[in-house]
Amino acid sequence: MKINIAIDGPSAAGKSTIAKKCASLLGYSHLDTGAMYRCVTLKAIRENIAFDDEEKLSSMMNNLSISFDSNGNVYLDGEDVSLLIRTNEVSMGASDVSKCLSVREKLVKIQQKIAENKGYILDGRDVGTVILPDAELKIYLIASSKARAERRIKEYKEKNIPFDEKVILEDIEKRDYQDMHREHSPLMKAEDAVEIDSSDLSIDELVNEIKKHLDRLGVHYD
Ligand code: DC
Repeated sequence: MKINIAIDGPSAAGKSTIAKKCASLLGYSHLDTGAMYRCVTLKAIRENIAFDDEEKLSSMMNNLSISFDSNGNVYLDGEDVSLLIRTNEVSMGASDVSKCLSVREKLVKIQQKIAENKGYILDGRDVGTVILPDAELKIYLIASSKARAERRIKEYKEKNIPFDEKVILEDIEKRDYQDMHREHSPLMKAEDAVEIDSSDLSIDELVNEIKKHLDRLGVHYD
């Protein structure tokens, strides 16, 4: 029997990496819910809509399509925006746009519909608390802001993206604050979530931690 897995936590804690690993281990599908907020943000930037203009954001949501392919590429109104949604401008903007209730309500409906047949791993901020409160396994993945900034720096170096170390750390902390203190569906640990601190764990060690919980639930994997 397939289950659903919710992975929540702050940015750069390793949610997406671990969600992809678990998806291949279990033969499940991965849904990156943050990518959906990023698509909404990219469209708002392109249409010159302010991130706090609830009315315009809400009507923009009626005319927007977001889809994924099996390789994890993200499409906004049919255009592959997988790279365009990863800029710092979009990251910070997504944290602002995600405060808007009508944006959240529309995305949550889509996310719930996608995962209704089980066999999904969703990562985000409100998966265990709002999107899938009945998920059989909930992971709350955290890491120190220093460890998360170091990961971002490594990623930027590998991709040859210019960066300022101080700004990376400041942005991580600003986004944590906003995501945890907003009015609607703030980032928080669901009561029944298992908290894992990934600061000092390798990806393999993290996967082993999750395997322990899959074993506990009697879920088979390769
Ligand atoms: O996971 P991410 O960094 O791609 O998410 C970008 C922003 O989107 C994040 O700062 C807050 C918002 N978000 C959210 O509010 N709820 C989610 N389920 C996922 C992301």
